Amino acid sequence: MNINVVILAAGLGTRMRSKRAKVLHSAGGMALIEHVVTAAGAVARPDSIVVVTGHQAEKVEDLLAPRGVRFVRQTEQKGTGHALACCHGSVETQSGLLMVLYGDTPLLSAATLLGLRDTQANSDSAATLITTELAEPTGYGRVIQDSAGHVTAIIEEKACTPEQKKIRLINSGIYCFRSDLLWKHISEIQPNNPAREFYLTDMAEILARHGHHVQAMHVDDPGELLGINTRVELSDADRLLRRRKAEELMLSGVTIERPETVSIDTQVQIGMDTIVEPFTRILGNTEIGEDCVIGAGSIVESSVLASGSILRPYTLVADSRVETGAQVGPFARLRMNARIGSDVRIGNFVEVKNSALGAGAKSQHLAYLGDATIGDRVNIGAGTITCNFDGVKKHETKIGSGAFIGSNSTLVAPVEIGVESYVGAGSVITDPVPDQALALGRGRQVVKPDWVAKKKKPAEK
Ligand code: UD1
Ligand code: MG
Repeated sequence: MNINVVILAAGLGTRMRSKRAKVLHSAGGMALIEHVVTAAGAVARPDSIVVVTGHQAEKVEDLLAPRGVRFVRQTEQKGTGHALACCHGSVETQSGLLMVLYGDTPLLSAATLLGLRDTQANSDSAATLITTELAEPTGYGRVIQDSAGHVTAIIEEKACTPEQKKIRLINSGIYCFRSDLLWKHISEIQPNNPAREFYLTDMAEILARHGHHVQAMHVDDPGELLGINTRVELSDADRLLRRRKAEELMLSGVTIERPETVSIDTQVQIGMDTIVEPFTRILGNTEIGEDCVIGAGSIVESSVLASGSILRPYTLVADSRVETGAQVGPFARLRMNARIGSDVRIGNFVEVKNSALGAGAKSQHLAYLGDATIGDRVNIGAGTITCNFDGVKKHETKIGSGAFIGSNSTLVAPVEIGVESYVGAGSVITDPVPDQALALGRGRQVVKPDWVAKKKKPAEK
């Protein structure tokens, strides 16, 4: 059956108390609206999905444009019924089904939407809406049913009598309408409520009044229906999404120690038998292979860790790549396209920025390696610094394979250190070092025998 989906995302979200439109706030590493569009993808092709935008419309549209969905602008936010009415002319109005979702319900699953579609398609109802019972229903519309279980009305919190406020059956804001009946009657919605808004929820009563059935589809897991109106609810959604992600990973063979302390974004991929230690954050489009260890307290963002690589505790990795068998940390930082070759060792307090280290290279303690190309098996001594910045421009350092850089060396870029060469400890290197040479760039040691005795004045003797 032909199905269109409309996602309402034009509201500001006053209760968020934010300069940013509500649907752009993130939970589980993606904007709220992105989660809803992803779920909608299970029931409709992208060009059959229309997102209604208004507040910060350009930002919402820029974010979603790559997904191929369509947009309708609601220039004035006059309520959810008005927002849907704006889609007249952009969706099929004579036949098929129209699913309506709100952009602030990020936990919706694809399975639930498929169930909603089938429930409506196999019924003689004009619409099906998803409901659940909440112990704490405050803020949600309450669903009124007749003795046969058909929905006769949805009463918004603000319009509820004290008696109606006790109803725990709530409107999730997820509906599937018969398109022809929806569009035939949508203009009957009136703003006769305290907020003077056009409530889409009034459609339940309107359809029932015209003799049509509106049915309720119950879901048992109310967590899925959480609508985000405040930052407290945003944090609830974030926690639930991350728990869902962690469970999915654990069931696919990833060990996660103390998962309640770990934050893993929705898009992250992790291979089998990798161990994720407590208090880690794994963010963005990160890909982690099999048999890795992500040490406690580490943060990995938009990076690739090949199978069998290890991050020791408290390591930061951003926009970088680590190859098989490499070990990084504890307390190391990789950023801006650091490329760590296979079997490399990066130790404590080493920062690597926009640099490549060849297979088996080592920098075990206290170094800054920036804009450097470092060959295989190079040994970088403690305290080595590539001086890549002259105050105006960044410059490159090249170190040939097998070279040995003594501790506390200062390599002033641009500079090239040859294959299998040595740099003596404490050197300041400003000129090229040929292959297999030894370079010393430091003051020669001076020893003055008996200096102490000679220095002391006679009176002190
Ligand atoms: C709505 C429902 C309520 C339901 C709850 C579930 C109505 C009148 N009420 O209340 O029954 O229990 O969701 O979470 O529908 N929007 C627009 N244009 C507008 C107004 C809103 O696009 O003019 C969008 C918002 O961006 C948001 C969605 O519609 O994504 C829902 O609006 P919101 O203000 O959050 O409605 P609730 O008060 O939560
Ligand atoms: Mg809401």
